[in-house]
Amino acid sequence: KIKIVTIGGGSSYTPELIEGFIVRKDQLPIKEIWLVDIEAGKEKLEIVGNLARRMVKKAGLDWEIHLSLDRKEALKDADFVSTQFRVGLLDARIKDERIPLKYGVLGQETNGAGGVFKALRTIPVILDIVNDMKKLCPNAWLVNFTNPSGMITEAVLNYGNFEKVVGLCNVPINHNFRESKLIGKSPDELIFQYAGLNHHHWHKIYDKSGDDLTALVMEKLFEQKESTMENIEFVPFCEEQIRDLGMLPCSYHQYYYLTDDMVKKEVVNYENHTTRAELVKKLEAELFELYKDPNLKDKPEQLTKRGGTHYSDAACELICSILNNKKTEMVVSTRNHGALTDLPYECVVEVSSIITGIGPRPLTFGKFKPAMRGMVQLMKAMEEVTIEAAVTGSYAKALQAFILNPLIPSGEIAKTILNEMLLAHKDYLPQF
Ligand code: NAD
Ligand code: G6P
Ligand code: MN
Repeated sequence: KIKIVTIGGGSSYTPELIEGFIVRKDQLPIKEIWLVDIEAGKEKLEIVGNLARRMVKKAGLDWEIHLSLDRKEALKDADFVSTQFRVGLLDARIKDERIPLKYGVLGQETNGAGGVFKALRTIPVILDIVNDMKKLCPNAWLVNFTNPSGMITEAVLNYGNFEKVVGLCNVPINHNFRESKLIGKSPDELIFQYAGLNHHHWHKIYDKSGDDLTALVMEKLFEQKESTMENIEFVPFCEEQIRDLGMLPCSYHQYYYLTDDMVKKEVVNYENHTTRAELVKKLEAELFELYKDPNLKDKPEQLTKRGGTHYSDAACELICSILNNKKTEMVVSTRNHGALTDLPYECVVEVSSIITGIGPRPLTFGKFKPAMRGMVQLMKAMEEVTIEAAVTGSYAKALQAFILNPLIPSGEIAKTILNEMLLAHKDYLPQF
């Protein structure tokens, strides 16, 4: 029987995770689930933990649900550890989004200056968690959801020297659902080929006879007037440019291919106090009001308003596939190992992979066309420098990451935003 530990257990997404485990109960011999949080998240942990207990009871399962503020106690002898924590809570995300926008520069949870700062705050904490895991559960798998998911996974592998880690994201699943529906199919009737980095990947779609449906899906997507991800404002892609790629972009590419238009939208949100983090704060308060209801015994529908919806599918399926050597195909952040020939061998990429008992085995994609190669190489270099900045606390490296980031203008403005953000987040940046 297995022990699963979730760090950041007080997250409003936890009921979806529990639902994912319940759905797979026949493949998951669970004994205990430990939900871990910190003092600041104690109230949320209790509310969501009690809902988790009601859900498990309703399903007629004898799983123990433990709530803990003591990470070390929880990690002892764990088999799987999932991470979904937010260093500095939503208030830090509000700063990540609002400070750059004050200067007309994109502020976003995982992109631009916001994404760099989320990495700077989170990497020291994940490396501490990995140190605890090495002592308390050295054979456990770490299933990381904490953003920026790709960079966090790379930090664990290349600086934490901990190999049993997989990074996850719900974007590929959301694309698969939506795009198969557009052509009247279900995802399991199609073959998806993903290649790139977390929140910066492209994909192709084939049917089972090997026919390439990418161009067909692309034309259907051009008719749509909303973005695939709930958390991303819609601006239509430039059709000629996307056709020229020959691959489907992910929703996050809107920030890179349509920077000016996206910034204009976000500046309006900045002025109206409707940036995504500010909206999420309200949404989260509503969700926790619902979770408090002792008669609620299921995941409420409103959770689908969060950008991370369907993420439990990824997390629970991954755990199930490793445990049962299912050899399922999933899109995960894992070591490149030559799958993308344009990127370093040891770096982390997000690619279609086969999930086995020894973890993900990335499928070879090969070379990108120059238009994608240029972006992905720049983004990977920016990620590497950001991770180095997070580990060393070097101001020069942090500035270097800003200058490399395609969403941050260089010059005086980069320094101004960097300095202001370093000050605003100083309580969560002990390395600087
Ligand atoms: P949240 O603000 O609800 O935070 C989750 C919990 O983490 C909170 O209860 C908080 O108290 C706790 N926490 C903060 N610091 C902690 C620490 N040091 N140790 C343990 N717990 C700590 O966040 P959320 O909206 O549920 O998102 C959680 C994380 O998951 C974020 O990093 C978010 O970016 C990420 N996320 C990723 C994906 C993906 O596609 N990979 C999808 C959704 C969310
Ligand atoms: C997306 C992404 C996540 C991101 C989240 C934000 O789906 O895959 O990585 O963090 O949604 O959602 P939110 O509701 O918090 O804005
Ligand atoms: Mn994601």
